[in-house]
Amino acid sequence: MTEKPRLVVLTGAGVSAESGISTFRDSGGLWDNYPVMDVASADGFARNPALVHRFYNMRRRELLEVEPNSAHRSIAELERWYRVTVITQNVDNLHERAGSSDVVHLHGELMKVRSMRHPGRVYDLDADNLDTSPESRDRYGDPVRPHIVFFQEPVPEIERAAAIVEEADVVVVIGTSMVVYPAAGLINYARRGVPVYYIDPNPAPVPDRITVIKAKATEGMECLVKMFRH
Ligand code: OAD
Repeated sequence: MTEKPRLVVLTGAGVSAESGISTFRDSGGLWDNYPVMDVASADGFARNPALVHRFYNMRRRELLEVEPNSAHRSIAELERWYRVTVITQNVDNLHERAGSSDVVHLHGELMKVRSMRHPGRVYDLDADNLDTSPESRDRYGDPVRPHIVFFQEPVPEIERAAAIVEEADVVVVIGTSMVVYPAAGLINYARRGVPVYYIDPNPAPVPDRITVIKAKATEGMECLVKMFRH
């Protein structure tokens, strides 16, 4: 039996936009309403942890209200024909809820917190237990923080992600402005000759080797699924 080809899907906020989650940099996006360095940086967290906890509490509540869209579901469906790894900048859990079985979260996960004293101790939050504050403690009595990669912090998963992209037979990029590094540099790890598609209604400038599909995530994925299914 021949092995399934490897498909790597790199996603950003645009894949979740049609589920009703705001992107960051589109007009009216999250960073228009919240100063990014206050709510999403290491300095901001040190300065005002209560504000940062409140911001992520709010985003968790939004996440409970929304559902995966057909782009998330199409990505999961492609597992019938491909070994699919999703590498996402998103902190939502919509890929998992749509059925994707292999998801790397570059920037952390909204529904998790971790110990500030022992960063390897990561805990799931659930719908009845969403809110955290500077007073929140884990079972060892240690303070917890959102399991989010803040600006000014390293991206622990980046090397693993780069190695996965290097192994890809096909790469699809969806809904990212490609301005946040190191995530934006991952496409450069695709081997020469590997097809790379980029779905975005307002795409960032990209090298010529990348096929741009100027469309929303759901439409673009519908098109790719037709092309990719055997
Ligand atoms: P951005 O908000 O920077 O970019 C969103 C992209 O999605 C833009 O290129 C839009 O054109 C596109 N878009 C909008 N609607 C879409 C749709 N329906 N279908 C497809 N694409 C659509 O979001 P990211 O590039 O994901 O990091 O941002 C990267 C990182 O910056 C985030 O992970 C976050 C943020 O600061 C952290 O918080 C650590």
